[in-house]
Amino acid sequence: MKGIVLIGFMGAGKTTIGRMLSEEINVGHLDFDDVIIEEIGMTIQEYFDQFGEEAFRKRETEILSRYLDPKHVISTGGGIVLKEENRKLLKQMPTVVYLKTDADELVKRLKADHTSIRPLVVSKSPEEIKEVYLPRIPFYQESASLIVETTGKSPAEIVAEILATDVKQAGA
Ligand code: S3P
Repeated sequence: MKGIVLIGFMGAGKTTIGRMLSEEINVGHLDFDDVIIEEIGMTIQEYFDQFGEEAFRKRETEILSRYLDPKHVISTGGGIVLKEENRKLLKQMPTVVYLKTDADELVKRLKADHTSIRPLVVSKSPEEIKEVYLPRIPFYQESASLIVETTGKSPAEIVAEILATDVKQAGA
């Protein structure tokens, strides 16, 4: 089984679904945010404050380039699709799943999540969060080989849907 890459906005469930998928298909799970945090030795918020978003994006590109033929389930950061270079890299990868979620649902989840501090949404209003999300939608769509609607579905349902479609595509 080839690796699976998950993309989608913050709060779409990339980490949760990634963990569950990796157990289901028995491969390792890699969370790009965790890889970056490990390498920079500070939180993403601190890195944004000290070095800026552009430096963070360069790190994402560098990490993505290492996993073009992944054997893992990879949960990317929500902004991975912002750079054209990254979108080109994603298109070379075997299975890229966009976890598509309604903007209102994302806002609700992000406002309820007090464990992750995300510099791009931390002090933003629901409207401002949507302004970050909406222009990214075409980038997620063009980078994905599979789009899975997640709104109103349980993680288990989403995992089952990804596996059913991925296996069908692999056999086609
Ligand atoms: C970001 C998403 C975050 C993290 C950083 C920037 C973004 O990851 O990479 O805060 O620009 O969407 P998650 O999507 O895992 O929260």
